Order: sequence, then structure tokens, then C-alpha cells
Amino acid sequence: MPSPSRLAAHWRRDVARVLIPKTELARRVRSLAGKIETDFRGRELVIVALLTGTVPFLADLIRHLTLPLRLDFLGVSSYGDGTESRTLIYTKELRLDVRGRDVLVVDDILDTGKTLASVLAKLRRLKPRRIKTCVLLDKPNRRKRNLSADYVGFKIPNLFVVGYGLDFAEQYRNLPFVGVLRPEIYAGRCPAPVCG
Ligand code: PRP
Repeated sequence: MPSPSRLAAHWRRDVARVLIPKTELARRVRSLAGKIETDFRGRELVIVALLTGTVPFLADLIRHLTLPLRLDFLGVSSYGDGTESRTLIYTKELRLDVRGRDVLVVDDILDTGKTLASVLAKLRRLKPRRIKTCVLLDKPNRRKRNLSADYVGFKIPNLFVVGYGLDFAEQYRNLPFVGVLRPEIYAGRCPAPVCG
């Protein structure tokens, strides 16, 4: 865990505490990759990653995979600059054909489940051979859709988390750890702990 004195001053100011240190993230991502590698052995995988928060997790995950794989992105956003979850907007569509393929959907966090439910419905219409889902973080207490992910990095309580891809108002994605944002940062901008 990075000692507080080694964190950038603005992170120290805005982050109340480190929830998942980078060493633990690295260990868990490697272990998830091992499970995926075993489950998809002999298959050609299409990874569909959901922009934007998934980028650090995805980059680390795929470097542990030796399977033949292709990578594509869906742009999907459920809420903007610090406001409560609302209608989903697709900002980028798939480029690769997933018909008859093994698909692994990768996202940073499973929260209410609205995003993943919409993405799964969309992908199923494209007739892949099978779809599995992988999320770094899971907030089961927040679920509004009846679904779970096949691969979960960490189940976490209902805290406002940022870092390792997760943002508040598009900030903090580059923190190398997952941290809990101080309430005064999002106070008045987002009914806590909805975002993060
Ligand atoms: C976040 C996150 C998930 C989604 C989870 O995306 O990356 O995709 O919310 O929330 P849900 O389970 O309640 O649907 P966001 O729309 O914030 O986009 P981002 O990845 O660009 O931050």
C-alpha cells in the first residue's frame, strides 16, 4: 500500500483511504486472467470492453492472457459529470463481428447492473456462441437488475470509490489503486454513494 506521504498531494487531499492497493489489484487481476485462460482454452476470444473506466483493468488483464484474442470496445455511459444514474447512451458501437464467437465482456464495476444488462441484450442480438462477463469491482448491494458477473475481482461495499479507471467527474482514473473519495469532494454534486 502506498504510504500517504508518497501519494501526490491532490490525491492525499481528495482520497480518504486506499480500499484496494495496487499490489492487491495486480495479484487479483493475474488470478482472474488464469481462470479466463483455463475456461476459454482452445477458443478464439473476442473481448468487448466497456469504455471508459475499464481501460487500466483491461490493459493489465490482457497482458496476462496468452489465448488468441481480438479486442473491441463499446462506448456506453450511464451518467455524466457527477449526477445520478440515468438513461444509457452508446457513444461507440462494435467494429468486430461477434457472431458465433466466444465473447468476454470486461467492465470496471458492476453497480446497479443497468449497463451490463443493456450490453448483454445488445450483444445477444448479434448471436455470439457464448458470452461471459468479467468485472473488477462488484457492488451487490446496489443491484437493480437480476444479474451477476462470471468473473469478479472484488466485492465491495457501497462506498464512493475512484481510481484504477474509476472516476468522479472524469477525474482520478489514473490513481494506481482503488480509493474511497472524501465526501466533501462529491457533496452537492452526486447523491452519495451513487457514483464511483
Ligand atoms: C460506470 C462503469 C460501468 C457502469 C456501472 O460507467 O464503468 O460501466 O457505470 O454502473 P451500473 O451497473 O449502475 O450500470 P460510466 O457510465 O460511469 O462510464 P465510464 O466508464 O466512462 O466512467
